[in-house]
Amino acid sequence: MDTFSNEDHDIEKYDRADALKVFDETKTGVKGLVDAGVTKIPRIFIRPPDELVEELNCSKVDLQIPVIDLTGSDIGDRRKEIVEQIRVASETWGFFQVINHEIPKSLLDETIDCIRMFHEQENEIKMKLYSRDRMHKVRFDSNLDLYRSRAANWRDTLTLSMFISDDLDPEEVPAVCRETMLEYIKHVTKFGGTLLELLSEALGLRPDHLQNLECCHGRTFVGQYYPPCPEPELTLGASKHTDPSFLTLLLQDHIGGLQVRYHDQWADVPPLTGGLVVNIGDLLQIASNDKFKSVDHRVLANHKGPRVSTVCFFTGVAVPPKIYGPIKELTLKSDGNPPVYKDFLKMVCLPETPMTPITQWTEDDKRKVVKARAAICNALPYDLLSLNLLINQIRKMDTFSNEDHDIEKYDRADALKVFDETKTAANWRDSLTLAMFISDDLDPEEVPAVCRHDHIGGLQVRYHDQWADVPPLTGSLVVNIGDLLQIASNDKFKSVDHRVLANHNGPRVSAVCFFTGVAVPPKIYGPIKELTLKSDGNPPVYKDFLVSEYMNNFFTRPIDKSGLDYFKL
Ligand code: OGA
Ligand code: NI
Repeated sequence: MDTFSNEDHDIEKYDRADALKVFDETKTGVKGLVDAGVTKIPRIFIRPPDELVEELNCSKVDLQIPVIDLTGSDIGDRRKEIVEQIRVASETWGFFQVINHEIPKSLLDETIDCIRMFHEQENEIKMKLYSRDRMHKVRFDSNLDLYRSRAANWRDTLTLSMFISDDLDPEEVPAVCRETMLEYIKHVTKFGGTLLELLSEALGLRPDHLQNLECCHGRTFVGQYYPPCPEPELTLGASKHTDPSFLTLLLQDHIGGLQVRYHDQWADVPPLTGGLVVNIGDLLQIASNDKFKSVDHRVLANHKGPRVSTVCFFTGVAVPPKIYGPIKELTLKSDGNPPVYKDFLKMVCLPETPMTPITQWTEDDKRKVVKARAAICNALPYDLLSLNLLINQIRKMDTFSNEDHDIEKYDRADALKVFDETKTAANWRDSLTLAMFISDDLDPEEVPAVCRHDHIGGLQVRYHDQWADVPPLTGSLVVNIGDLLQIASNDKFKSVDHRVLANHNGPRVSAVCFFTGVAVPPKIYGPIKELTLKSDGNPPVYKDFLVSEYMNNFFTRPIDKSGLDYFKL
């Protein structure tokens, strides 16, 4: 019976990773499935059983998020009233709708239409934009967190990112929605400024306080498309999440489905003609020192549809790095309001983390993860995982409470996992790492007392498409140029592929020291100016970057790319 039961087991076993890949490779998203006529949703979209059971016990409140009429918001007493309504809404719901705002209704309608048109155009154009690379300014994808979420969401997304830099080449914006989206972006950016003034006042600050923090600068615009779903009770349009932003402005069409968490229940956010939904993101909850709330929300899947929405995340400045944290005026000890969060940089960085599988982490490993996360926060917008992490990881967590919970989430978000998945084969070696990447002080007691010369050999260096041995030489040290010096030298010096053969003899032991430059506080590196004089015919070959950016890219790059490729101009 052995073979039989094995077989049975295999049939039972369902390869989720494989199914995700097949879906991803269609590059046509959820709409592609609907176009193909599916009548049952593929298993990758089905929510885990515990969630489906919980849903049965979950009640709905009839309460609705506040609707705030902005008419007269620049007139004395009326402004006070509006500011007060915004304060109450931001402290309780974290969400409100605004009407009679400054954006013309015709533009709102055109924006929804053009997002629908983008998603409903020929697949060919969309497929060309299909990408999971968050560095692409304009991209189409379905489920950016596809490989890490518990269940895929029933929606497709067009992203226009002005997260890293403010300039978006109009030519890069898809033609069907170019003119309208650029117009909408202009209006929404201005309106975001107006709202930040009102929110500053609602916090008891000067009207320009949040604007001066450049909260409006990094922006990501997202055009969501939720196709009609044949089995909406089994999946979601968007899983519950908080937003990785200071402020989010959402425009939805007439279908409905957005829900907001309120006292352990879900409340509908009904579509309101000419209205815009405003919500507080994680970064403003932090800046306000927990006065304003970044609240869980989600989108139901629906038989009806498609549903279309446009979301604008105001994410603050990431490059050059800027320090954010609780606003000093709101954390006066004398008022009994000590800061609840640490300061942090909003930048992209891979934290120092244990390389062992999560199930084998020691207490000390866990502590390191939390520390690294807290020190450098991974706040890329629109990564549902990092955004859930944001608050948990930055909140002062010197003692490792909530551990399982946070570690679970951390694991899924962990860039290292992506790295592991992209590797085709593991190497026959173990490593001892002594890291002074983040800070220069290493407790001598932490360092094992071993450093010895080794004679086994096996190191090879690439030379003109061949491998050359690097034979052990008593008393010698091997020196090699790394990627960062190749970049600094503007390709004059070479950072060269090398590898280590496995060996019958052994063990082989080596000690490697990487000089990686300054990561914290962030420092900008790039081709050295003296070496890139145009007059000498040596224009720079690489862009400038932060070491953390380089490392982040290095550890998450596709297997066929070098650490240098991304920074090539
Ligand atoms: C989001 C979001 C809601 C919607 O994109 O973060 O919450 O209605 N979207 O599309
Ligand atoms: Ni959201």
